[in-house]
Amino acid sequence: MVKVTVAGAAGGIGQPLSLLLKLNPLVTELALYDIVNAHGVAADLSHINTPAVVTGHQPSGKEDNSAITAALKNTDLVVIPAGVPRKPGMTRADLFNINASIVRDLVANIARTAPNAAILIISNPVNSTVPIAAEVLKKLGVFNPRKLFGVTTLDVVRAETFLGGLLDVDPSKLRGKISVVGGHSGDTIVPLINYDSEISNKAKSRLSTSDYEKFVNRVQFGGDEVVKAKNGAGSATLSMALAGYRFAENILESLNGRNQPVLIPDSAYIYLPGIPYGKIFSDKHLNGVEFFSVPVRLQNGRIESFIDPFEGLVKTDEEQKLIEVALKGLTGSIKQGTEFVKGSK
Ligand code: NAD
Ligand code: LMR
Repeated sequence: MVKVTVAGAAGGIGQPLSLLLKLNPLVTELALYDIVNAHGVAADLSHINTPAVVTGHQPSGKEDNSAITAALKNTDLVVIPAGVPRKPGMTRADLFNINASIVRDLVANIARTAPNAAILIISNPVNSTVPIAAEVLKKLGVFNPRKLFGVTTLDVVRAETFLGGLLDVDPSKLRGKISVVGGHSGDTIVPLINYDSEISNKAKSRLSTSDYEKFVNRVQFGGDEVVKAKNGAGSATLSMALAGYRFAENILESLNGRNQPVLIPDSAYIYLPGIPYGKIFSDKHLNGVEFFSVPVRLQNGRIESFIDPFEGLVKTDEEQKLIEVALKGLTGSIKQGTEFVKGSK
């Protein structure tokens, strides 16, 4: 019996993500929450012949908390794609003013109604919205760092796709053989492609230095590519729905007692000091930066451990330098998120 709640379910990501969740036989209840059109999306998905019972939840006004409370009651997993997307010319950080309070308020409701649920945050800027969520949960006394995840899977999916194209390899076969760590914005995104000897040798023989640099840049700025192509109609939705589902599926399978099928699991942006070895890792390698995306091993819907990228995944000076740049970018974004909550009522 697994209940999943999607907050922001009627949006560009929320709808296809909810569709994919409806198809998963492990889900017994799918609660769709949005401030618009939640009932319509729920009615539509409820006609699909899979076991998950779909319910729609939409508040009648700003003060109405009953819809979110019902959506969250007894839930095991909350996925949050609520908030505004970018338009051309904007950075993810430009979304902070609107999305920070949306995430803060949703997470406060989770803290009150479903404090044991796993929380997957998709809303941007992820580098700051996850620290916001952590701070809210801390403030309300229910923070479990093993259950809070910033969803960075789209960066992994992109890295697999782009590298597969360059090496003429089926991108789906790269799962678990390359990784992405760091954050989820521009040069905080760090692809690691040298730890699997077969892939690394192929990359060395096929990619010039300039090809490699272009690959890294494309992974780091893949989001901008989509924003530009959509030309004002938003950012990645379909590829994000797939990526968000892929990570949600990891959680569902871990709740069901199944092991992840890959050697190197997907990364997520997590609060390291709350995970065994996380504080040592953060002090030793990250100059004390506390939020970082690393490959996470899951058990029963929570982080059991993570893979230290410096123990075998980071292989070259280039990758090491990319991490140093990423850390500079992350520091300010994390502080902005944390201070936003400290300054809120
Ligand atoms: P969208 O505008 O299509 O959908 C957002 C949905 O959120 C809308 O249906 C809206 O009504 C809803 N919403 C707004 N405020 C809400 C609230 N308080 N409670 C519940 N629902 C609320 O946007 P989208 O394209 O789906 O993108 C959503 C977010 O995901 C954006 O912030 C975007 O930047 C981010 N994103 C993240 C990644 C990632 O890799 N983590 C990838 C793509 C997009
Ligand atoms: C992405 O990587 O596609 C998302 O973070 C959306 C964006 O704003 O680029």
